[in-house]
Parts: sequence; C-alpha cells; structure tokens
Amino acid sequence: MGKLLIVFALIAVFVAFIGQRIITLRRVCLASREVIQNHLPNCRHLKGLEYGSEDITVLPHGLAIISTGLKYPGMMWFSDSPGKMYTVDLHDPRLKPVELKIAGAFDMHSFNPHGISVYIDDKDHSVYLFVVNHPQDNSQVEVFRFVEEDNSIVHLNTIQHELLYSVNDVVPVGADRFYATNDHYFSNAIMKNLEPLIGRPWTNVAYYSPDEVKVVAEGFFMANGINISPDKRHIYVSDIFDYKIYVMAIQENKNLTLLKSVDTGSLCDNVEVDLDTGDLWLGCLPDCWKMLHYDPEDPPGCEVIQIQNVLSEKPIVKQVYSDNGTIIQGCSVSAFYRHKLLIGTVFQKALVCDMK
Ligand SMILES: *[C@@H]1O[C@H](CO)[C@@H](O)[C@H](O)[C@H]1NC(C)=O
Repeated sequence: MGKLLIVFALIAVFVAFIGQRIITLRRVCLASREVIQNHLPNCRHLKGLEYGSEDITVLPHGLAIISTGLKYPGMMWFSDSPGKMYTVDLHDPRLKPVELKIAGAFDMHSFNPHGISVYIDDKDHSVYLFVVNHPQDNSQVEVFRFVEEDNSIVHLNTIQHELLYSVNDVVPVGADRFYATNDHYFSNAIMKNLEPLIGRPWTNVAYYSPDEVKVVAEGFFMANGINISPDKRHIYVSDIFDYKIYVMAIQENKNLTLLKSVDTGSLCDNVEVDLDTGDLWLGCLPDCWKMLHYDPEDPPGCEVIQIQNVLSEKPIVKQVYSDNGTIIQGCSVSAFYRHKLLIGTVFQKALVCDMK
C-alpha cells in the first residue's frame, strides 16, 4: 500500500512538473498576443518563393542572397523538395529571384539550408558563402565561393564538428572560420524535441577555425540568429525565447565578452546588419504558439524590428512592420538595403517593401 502511494505521488509530481513546463513554454510563446497590423505602403511578394526564405543576406552592392525550403523539426513545411538558394538584385526594379546554380561535388538532393552569411576577402574580394545545412537530422556548415558572373556557387568544403551539433546560424570571420549558434543543448533528435519540456535549454555560441574549435558564449535560452558589426568588433546574438539581442565584444583570442543585452519585445530569429548605418534588422514572431501548431485559418504573424544605435547607452528599438498572417506568415528575417526592406519566413513567402 505504502509503495503504491509513493508511485502515485511520483506520478503526481511528474505531471505537475511537465504541466509547469508546458505553462512556461506557453508563456514564452505569448499564447494570446494580438497582432496589430502595421503595414507599409509599397510591399509585394517576391515571385516564385513559396517554400520559405528563412535567411537573407545582402552583399555591399545590393545583391541579396536567400535560402529557401527549410525543413526544421517541429515546424511546418509545404514542400519536400530540396532547399534552394536565390539571388535578388535590389537595384533591378523587377526584383526577380534567380536560382543560384550549385557547382562542385555537392549532394543537392539532401540540401536543407538554414542560416546563411557571407565573408568577403579584403585582398582579392572573393565572396565566400557559408550555409548551415541539415541533410539529415544533423548540422554541418557548407562553404561555397560565390561567382557573381554566372550566378553560381562552387562548393568548397563541408565542416562538421562535435561542437557544431545543432547549428542554427553562422557568421564567418575569415574564409575558413566562423561563429555559429547552437539552438539546442541536445544533439539527439528525440531529446531535442523533449528539451523544452525538460527544462530551460542551455545553448551556446561556438567558434570554429581549422586549428581551434571552442564554445565562446553560453547560457542562452535559445541562441538563434548571429551577426557581426560592420567594423567586425562586435557579435550580435538573438536569444529568441528571451526576447533579447546580446551584444558581445570579440577578444583577441576569439572569445566573446558580453557587453549588454537589448530587449526586442518579440521572438526574434535572424539578425541582419545594415552595412551603411550599423542598424540591426530582425525578423520576429509575435506568436510562436501559432508557429508550432500551424493552422492556415489562424496563421502565425510577422513582425519586423529595427534597432538603431545598438552600441549606445540608449538603443532605439522600433517596430517597422507587422502583419497577422494575412500577407506574410512566420517571419524569420528582415534585411535593409538603402530604401528596400526584405522580409523572409521559415516556410512561407517573402516580401519586399520600398520605403522611399
Ligand atoms: C487580420 O487582420 C485583418 C484586418 O486587417 C482581418 O480582416 C483578418 O481577419 C485578420 N486575420 C486573422 C487571422 O486574424
């Protein structure tokens, strides 16, 4: 009888524990936040992008590179076809996405691109494109050389490492070295899904180079987007579940020192940096519960947040755009070039707005 009581007590404790976790997850996910429409006048969808535009990066002369077709466990996807990469020339009024050809020894059929970023060599101006790829449940970073003349990328290298176990996004600091966020604590697929129920995840930023790989920042709830300041001295990490951007200084030895965090008020995914002003542009979710339980009748919305003067005492955090899912659903990125604003999503369309 005593034993039975103990078993019941343990079950009760376990149920209460899981219940608490679910409540925490719901709270973090802002279950009932209403999205107030904040539209811009001159927006249109980018043609042919229907299966996500998870990450976008813009080269200094206004050519945007977009990753599409992400299949991310726990999220919706509308097509099982392999992921693709596109470019859009922001100076061309047609704003037409053109698929990037992929050359070199590379398995296109399992391509599942996620975070992307470029590195431009100071001396010969070569452009290296770094792409987080999840061909199976795993994570690896693909390095390509971008050949603008024929809109192609040439595969150079696949980087795998035990410290790169659940990579979300990447920012290179050389042709063969980068910082990357791990968005989970566990690398095992089942444990990854259970992770939010077990406790507060403990995720990190790793630094990779051919001669040294190390964890350089940790303790994030869920480290997501990562990027670098135009002067290459600061790293920005979006902790999506903490509604914060962490600002860190790069040390000589490549370790990161936390300087401060900035509240975004939203669940922000990728971080893009305006090379002209240093402003941060974020693609955010007003409601992640709707993201995790996709319902076309009640879809997840979209929020674009801009942070000005991020390094100053008083950064300005501004909502530039928001939509309740009627126009665009589940935003993951926004990038600004001159007066053009690009908005990308995890599994749906992409939008471009002229803010002139
Ligand atoms: C979104 O807002 C519009 C009004 O701008 C409204 O007509 C529509 O029903 C809303 N959609 C959802 C899913 O809430």
